Formats: sequence, C-alpha cells, structure tokens
Amino acid sequence: MKILVTGGLGFIGSHTVVELQNEGFEVVIIDDLSNSSENVLDGIEAITGKRPIFEKMDLREKSKVQDFFKKHHDLEGVIHFAASKAVGESVEKPLLYYENNLGVLVYLLQELSKMDKANFIFSSSCTVYGQADSLPITEDAPVKPAESPYGNTKQIGEEIIRDTCHVNSQLSAIALRYFNPIGAHPSVEIGELPIGVPQNLVPFITQTAVGLREQLSVFGDDYPTEDGTCIRDYIHVVDVAKAHVVALQRLLGQKNDSNFEVFNLGTGKGSSVLEVIHSFERVSGEKLNYKIVDRRPGDVIQAYADTTNANNVLGWKAASTLDDSMKSAWDWEQKVRN
Ligand code: WQD
Repeated sequence: MKILVTGGLGFIGSHTVVELQNEGFEVVIIDDLSNSSENVLDGIEAITGKRPIFEKMDLREKSKVQDFFKKHHDLEGVIHFAASKAVGESVEKPLLYYENNLGVLVYLLQELSKMDKANFIFSSSCTVYGQADSLPITEDAPVKPAESPYGNTKQIGEEIIRDTCHVNSQLSAIALRYFNPIGAHPSVEIGELPIGVPQNLVPFITQTAVGLREQLSVFGDDYPTEDGTCIRDYIHVVDVAKAHVVALQRLLGQKNDSNFEVFNLGTGKGSSVLEVIHSFERVSGEKLNYKIVDRRPGDVIQAYADTTNANNVLGWKAASTLDDSMKSAWDWEQKVRN
C-alpha cells in the first residue's frame, strides 16, 4: 500500500515514515527541504532497513502536484505534514503562511477529489483551542480566535477539509490535533533539527545543556498554576507518529464514524515548565542554567488533552512518559553535537 507523506523529512513526518515502513507500507515522501535535510533519509533507512522514495518538490507549484498524482495514481492515503510552523514568523509573513499551509492544502484536496476513494490525514494543533475554558480539553471544546496567522491556518485548514468532505463522500479525512510533540527516536537516528534559535522549550533546554545557548529563559512564574509556570501536554514524537498509522488504518479499514473526524493527540497529563526542567535534570544528570523572566506574549496558561476519544474511538494511547521523552531528546542533542 503506497502512502504519500508530505513533509516526510521533518520532525514528526520522519518519525511517521519510520512507523509506516515498520507496518509494511510503501512510502513516498515529498519535501522541499526548507526545514529539513536529505540526510534524514539515511536515518530512516538505518532504522527500518528501507529507503523511502523521495521527491524534492515545492507543493506550491500546482502543476507539479498534478503531475505527481498522475504518476502515482495508486496512492492509498496521504499524510500531510508539509507546512510552515513558526508562530512568530507567521506574524511577520502572513501571506507566506496562508500560501504554504492553505494554498497547498487546496491543491492536494483537489487531486484527492479526483480519485475514486481517498484517505487524508491532516496535521492540526491544540493551538485551535486557545485558552480553553475547561480542562482537560475535549475535541468539542470551542475553537477560539487564532492568536497568529499560523494558528489561523490550522483552523481554516480544518474548515477547508470539513467543507470538502461534506460534498465528497469518497474522501475521508482525520485531523489530528497535536499538543506538544517532543523527543526523538530511541535509536537516535532521527530527531528534531531546529534551524537557528529554537522557539520551543525542549530543544532550547537541550541546546542550553550542551552549551550552544547560555541560559534558558522561563517565561513567567506568576501564572495561576501550582508552581506559577505554564502547563502543557508534552508527548513523545514516536507516540504521535504511531497515532498517524492508527488513524490511517482506521480510514483504510473504513472504521471511521464519519468522513471527517478530529482527534486530540496528547498524553492527558499536563506538565509545568519547571517540571519539564526537573525531568531533564533527572534523566541527564546535568544542572540546567535557567532564569525566570517576563511572560511571553500569547502564551496560554494551561493546555492538556482529554484523550478519551483518542483512546477509545481511535484506539491509540501514548505510551511514553515525560522522562522517556526528555531522555531521548537529550540523547539526540548529544549525538547531533558530537
Ligand atoms: C512551551 C512552554 C513557554 C520556550 C507550540 C506552538 C503551538 C503548538 C504547540 C503546533 C510555554 C515555555 C518556551 C522558552 C519557556 N504547535 N517556554 N522558555 O507555546 O505550547 O506551543 O507548540 O501547532 O502552535 O507555538 O510550545 O515549546 O514554545 O512552549 O519558558 O525558551 O515553555 O512559555 O509555557 P507552545 P513552546
């Protein structure tokens, strides 16, 4: 069974390719290498013993997308990761984000609409919930006004898919709303490779510990939480990757309840910034240099998933602990720097 993975050389994409290949799927990757590298193919091959087919392509080139689908008329599913994901950059370059994240989505759905039967998995985000009114966050919690063009592309992206599924019963789609994916493959053959200064907490922690950054700034300790720092649902990237395979199998087996479904991907457990730091210190044996600074604009206080639907309907459950995730992130960082 041939599956297209767009953005398959990126952080979550590459881990998903590994899990797909482990389950016997044939994978074709499209990636423009804007935030990844061809070396990731070596890592995937080292883990799975198989090198996926790779096409370097900018999906904004509509005619190339059309040609690709003509050539690969036997696709059984598409998992769409390719997107721009830096929140701050999206504020500076909104049209780039709308073109990359929504223009491309439309082109893919246009091609999928031509097929007799099409299965589509979309990378969505817990960012659609904003600061939820109640915790843990269920999938039917209201979608809040987006804080950034990036967040907006995830909200509108889901709407575009929902509207398309509404008129195309041959198209089935699942949107997976990720909480905070972290960590790396336990083999340390693949992991996260942020370009420049990391905006996300965990790569900033590991880069600080390895000496690349001087100090971690903890953004605020005066939030209404137990230790005053923000709370997130950090989930191991391998767990996230496995959820994509389960979601795909749900569509292939026609076990879906409707042709557009949404699931949260989280552990169900919230951890504060200080808890993440302490977990890191525990598994690494390193002391982290950090200081408390002002709050970061736009941060929600708390977000963690209600995983009931993911567990009982999708039939998937996160297996790794925060310590497992932090250990793998640290092993990966050390490998990359050495
Ligand atoms: C986590 C916590 C920070 C960096 C991001 C995306 C969002 C969604 C999920 C995809 C927060 C604190 C961070 C630092 C810190 N992704 N922090 N010092 O903000 O939950 O959301 O991932 O769709 O769109 O923006 O993740 O890793 O940036 O921050 O204290 O140097 O760590 O304040 O509480 P966030 P994050």
